[in-house]
Amino acid sequence: MRFRRDQKISILTGAGISAESGLKTFRGTDGLWRNHRVEEVASPKAFQKDPALVWDFYKERYKKLQNVQPNKAHLALKLMEDYLKENFTLITQNVDGLHSIAGNKHLYEMHGNLRECFCMSCNYKNTLKNIDPAARVPQCPKCGDNLRPNVVWFGEFPYHLEEIKEAIKNSDYFIIIGTSGVIYPAADFLRLAKNFRVTTLGLNLEKPSNVSFIDHFYSGKAAEELPKLVNEWIGRL
Ligand code: OAD
Ligand code: ZN
Repeated sequence: MRFRRDQKISILTGAGISAESGLKTFRGTDGLWRNHRVEEVASPKAFQKDPALVWDFYKERYKKLQNVQPNKAHLALKLMEDYLKENFTLITQNVDGLHSIAGNKHLYEMHGNLRECFCMSCNYKNTLKNIDPAARVPQCPKCGDNLRPNVVWFGEFPYHLEEIKEAIKNSDYFIIIGTSGVIYPAADFLRLAKNFRVTTLGLNLEKPSNVSFIDHFYSGKAAEELPKLVNEWIGRL
């Protein structure tokens, strides 16, 4: 398959694309953190009840990001954007920020970014590297309320959903990479693409649960297989 510069491509990535950078996938672990189910820590209710516990969870995850770099799969997607320019849209469920570090600009981080935090009362924003690591629950310097990590929790609405759906509907190709297809609404994007007669492709270690909506499925590790596929798609690697 070969993509032309005037064709529109949108791509959805999940935890699998960052696996070779050394970050664990969600459902690849036992889904537990200090004996709490992850879903129970990553929720507005948990933050109300015990903000320090929720911050402990995200600070641990943030620490793990310190020595992590984009891998060959992230870099291949940067080359795709260089080639397709504004015809390329990257949508990610990952909060690791690696696509942005790799240089992608037309990027929707639909579940937020673990390197950032904000105040729910006054919308003050900051990055975690400016936050005092000794503060168990960082406070807003403007209004004194608790700051929270800029990640979308279970029960909350993902960011940029309308723009994302518009981009997918208007695409010639929609591609999913490294996502298990179990968390909605992202899991529904393939079906949306098929409803709008968009050709769909998928690259994943194992078949995702929504594989029936994928026209061309490739199995393998993203960092190994994606550079080869991008070479085939745009002839650049
Ligand atoms: P999952 O952990 O559910 O799925 C990762 C997928 O990547 C699996 O289908 C694996 O087979 C595949 N995979 C693993 N290693 C891979 C590799 N090296 N190359 C290619 N594929 C590989 O992660 P997500 O689908 O991203 O939401 O999870 C979606 C959302 O669920 C997350 O964004 C998070 C989570 O709860 C929130 O935090 C709101
Ligand atoms: Zn505030």
